[in-house]
Amino acid sequence: MAGEAGHLYRTDNSTVGGCIVTGNGHNLLEIRDLRKSYGETRALRGMNLQGQAGTVHTVFGENGSGKSTMVKILSGIITPDAGQVLLAGEALTHFSPKAVARLGIVPVMQEVLVAPNRSVIENIFLGYDGLFRRRIPRDQRREKAQEILARITRTPIDLDSLTGVLPLAQQQLVVIARAFVHEPRILVLDEATAALDIEERETLFGAIRSFVADGRLVIYISHRVDEVLSLSDYVTVLHVGRDVGSVSSEALTAARLLEMVSTAPVHEEANDAG
Ligand SMILES: Nc1ncnc2c1ncn2[C@@H]1O[C@H](COP(=O)(O)OP(=O)(O)O)[C@@H](O)[C@H]1O
Ligand SMILES: [Mg+2]
Repeated sequence: MAGEAGHLYRTDNSTVGGCIVTGNGHNLLEIRDLRKSYGETRALRGMNLQGQAGTVHTVFGENGSGKSTMVKILSGIITPDAGQVLLAGEALTHFSPKAVARLGIVPVMQEVLVAPNRSVIENIFLGYDGLFRRRIPRDQRREKAQEILARITRTPIDLDSLTGVLPLAQQQLVVIARAFVHEPRILVLDEATAALDIEERETLFGAIRSFVADGRLVIYISHRVDEVLSLSDYVTVLHVGRDVGSVSSEALTAARLLEMVSTAPVHEEANDAG
């Protein structure tokens, strides 16, 4: 991974082939040395990430590299064993779904989680009242839901349909719309396009790009090289629970991503202690 000028940095702040892209006080989200084990399985072994406002920052890694574990920590579903998550420089001290949502972090989990026996509109506003004290009044919700669906998809979705009878792609879009309703500062999408076809993905990517234009941050999780290339401003590559480097869009190629994964150092268990 040597030789590229200016675009690669190690998130431990040692540089690789150029300057540090981020690493000062301007990160909207910073992850420092995050660690999480499930029993014997060490899902995260020291992950770092620096996410700037106004960017789409992808976490790319093979299956099992720890991506969803990171998402669950950012979502407040699980608590890290060690390490820090900083939001605009402030370390999170309390991990719970409500606490992180109030700080403006809203996730879309990898599993498509809908209430199948409720309507699309009910699913889009599921959990909304408890969290945000009805910022969008009830009589404006249909309009808001329509507006968001129109942004993220060209597929017409009936707000009054039972969600469980819809094709999986539409259910996935409903779940994504639910996250957009909150207008989060940080939107986290974990493999959120798995059920979408190429055209649906492209429409969604357009919505994601305009979403970050006013200073928000999207953390986009993917193991698919093609979509990483078409969407990302920055990519942090995760390999066996560690970040192995980050790269900005100008230096981003399929070959580079695969090289970063394949040349990642193999760490001995003995060196991982602590
Ligand atoms: N609840 C769990 N219990 C035990 N092991 C888990 C659990 N969740 C994830 N893992 C393991 O942790 C590792 C990382 O998983 P995950 O974060 O889901 O990776 P990714 O999303 O990159 O595929 C894998 O080895 C996985 O089997
Ligand atoms: Mg996953």
